[in-house]
Amino acid sequence: MAHWKLATFLAIAVAYASALEVRHVRSSRAAVSSGIELPVAPFSVPLTDKVPRSSAKKRMLRELRAGARSNVAVVAGAADDEEYLTDITIGGQDFKVVVDTGSSDTFLAGIGFQCFSLADVPVPEADCFFGTAGFDISKSETFVPFPDTNFNISFADAEFLTGSVGFDTITVGGLTVTQQEFGVVTAAAWNGDTISTGLMGLAFPTLTSVFNGTDPDADETAAHLLYNPFFFSAVQQKAVDAPFFSVALNRGTFAKEANSTLDPNLGFLAFGGIAPVAVTKTSTTVPVQGFATSSGASEIFFYAVDVEQVTFPGSTAKTTINAPSILDTGTTLNLVPTNIAKEFNARFKPPATFVEDEDTYFVDCNAIAPTFSIKIGGQEFAVDGRDQIVPSLDENNNLVCISGTQDGGPDEEGNFFVLGDVFLHNVVATFDISKNDITLTERASY
Ligand SMILES: *[C@@H]1O[C@H](CO)[C@@H](O)[C@H](O)[C@H]1NC(C)=O
Ligand SMILES: *[C@@H]1O[C@H](CO)[C@@H](O)[C@H](O)[C@H]1NC(C)=O
Ligand SMILES: *[C@@H]1O[C@H](CO)[C@@H](O)[C@H](O)[C@H]1NC(C)=O
Repeated sequence: MAHWKLATFLAIAVAYASALEVRHVRSSRAAVSSGIELPVAPFSVPLTDKVPRSSAKKRMLRELRAGARSNVAVVAGAADDEEYLTDITIGGQDFKVVVDTGSSDTFLAGIGFQCFSLADVPVPEADCFFGTAGFDISKSETFVPFPDTNFNISFADAEFLTGSVGFDTITVGGLTVTQQEFGVVTAAAWNGDTISTGLMGLAFPTLTSVFNGTDPDADETAAHLLYNPFFFSAVQQKAVDAPFFSVALNRGTFAKEANSTLDPNLGFLAFGGIAPVAVTKTSTTVPVQGFATSSGASEIFFYAVDVEQVTFPGSTAKTTINAPSILDTGTTLNLVPTNIAKEFNARFKPPATFVEDEDTYFVDCNAIAPTFSIKIGGQEFAVDGRDQIVPSLDENNNLVCISGTQDGGPDEEGNFFVLGDVFLHNVVATFDISKNDITLTERASY
């Protein structure tokens, strides 16, 4: 949250430094196809029973439950609907965790962890704002420690966590993986939401954050011990038939976003197929883009795609993006190249204003957002104007609005951009981890 302190999130794992000082290598494969038919993920579990659901929702859940297994989790929203949470059970203990396609580890705060400020100064445990006291290793009958290793992760918004590593049984949305490796955090600099106790990362094994040795200060690339994240283990253990997972992130209503701490139904995380929401016929399937490592080989870390064109009123020819863009559920906003952000933000009525100190475009909460679409794999995906005006609270608890599409830096080699929740509200994103393809399907308007 270094840049977007106004309760927006940038949950992108910053892997051991060398991984990101790398060049983008465009996959030689073109768009695979458009209009591909994906099976609907068979089943569903409600995230919470605390809040009554509308009859339409109840009906849908009933239909989904008609199947034999339950592999769809309803996601909830926290922190002004800017984070997406799912229920998770680890070693028989229940928590809520942030759903993050921009990192790969699953981790929980451990009982008795030490909280630090982002400036690395010890602060009271409550200042990390986790939702529970944390995971209790001694209360799990299935936990197996991974001795002489450490967990060490940093995020792009300056949050960092370190801890120990173990294996346990993990269930999300009815999908159970045994002996899943995960982090038990003993030290954290974390801006929590008072509801979640950790995070579930869904990106590639290359981005996992476990190292040989018990001293996190000694971690280096050579000591990196890669492992399979939760969904990769599920596929390997044949706990799920099809090697896809899918996310449909609903936009919150403006009123709820400005008010609520927990919104119990904000979309779906689905395993084994496409998330169960209404879609149109517009869809495309594209390869995941890799990055060049220091050895010159191309490696996949994130769900990165090539954006062919960004279109908005008055957009000029310079609206291609050369570096890859990461589809990241853990980042609230879109981060696009400087020139595109500048031109786009000038088109709000009234225009958004850039506040240097905050490194953020602010916009009038009643502004009219320009139309905006992103072309990927030959298909245009429009971003609804409602997603481009993001309500937030300033330090005096006054409602302020920030533009949904912000400056992500110059469009040059080694950089990457982000299509965050602002974009993802408009599509279902389905990630095939065996073919390394991503299918984007336009959602019916809602
Ligand atoms: C974690 O890993 C990074 C390298 O990625 C290293 O610089 C740092 O010292 C490690 N330890 C901590 C506590 O951050
Ligand atoms: C960690 O490093 C030590 C010393 O190099 C080595 O003996 C050990 O096998 C490594 N552990 C793992 C899990 O790779
Ligand atoms: C949001 O909170 C304000 C002040 O607490 C209250 O006046 C308003 O009715 C709330 N709106 C909703 C939709 O809950």
